[in-house]
Amino acid sequence: MRPDATSHPTPPATITLQPLGCTFPADGKTILQAAEAAGFTLPSSCRNGTCRTCLCRLESGAVRYLVEWPGLSIEEKREDYLLPCVAVPVGDVVLKAPLAKRQP
Ligand code: FES
Repeated sequence: MRPDATSHPTPPATITLQPLGCTFPADGKTILQAAEAAGFTLPSSCRNGTCRTCLCRLESGAVRYLVEWPGLSIEEKREDYLLPCVAVPVGDVVLKAPLAKRQP
C-alpha cells in the first residue's frame, strides 16, 4: 500500500538565522515577514527588493522571489546572496544574518 499525502504530510518549512541560532516557521511568508512574526528584526527599508538594505546570505536551502528582478547581480545570486524582503523559502533555509536581532 502506498502512503498518501494525508498519512505523511510535508513538514512545514523553517527558517534559521545564524549566528543567533533561532529557528521559526516560514508559513509561506517572505523571510523578512516570517522573522518579524516570530519576534526577530532584520535590516530593511524598501521591502520591495530594490534598496538592498536587507541583503544577506543563504547558508543552505533555496528561495523563490516574489518579484521578477530582485536587486541582485548574477554574481551575487551565484554566491547565495539574497533579499529576505522578497524571498520566500522553498523548504528549510539557513541564513547568515549577522545583523538579525530579537525584538525588544
Ligand atoms: S528592504 Fe529593500 S531590498 Fe529588502
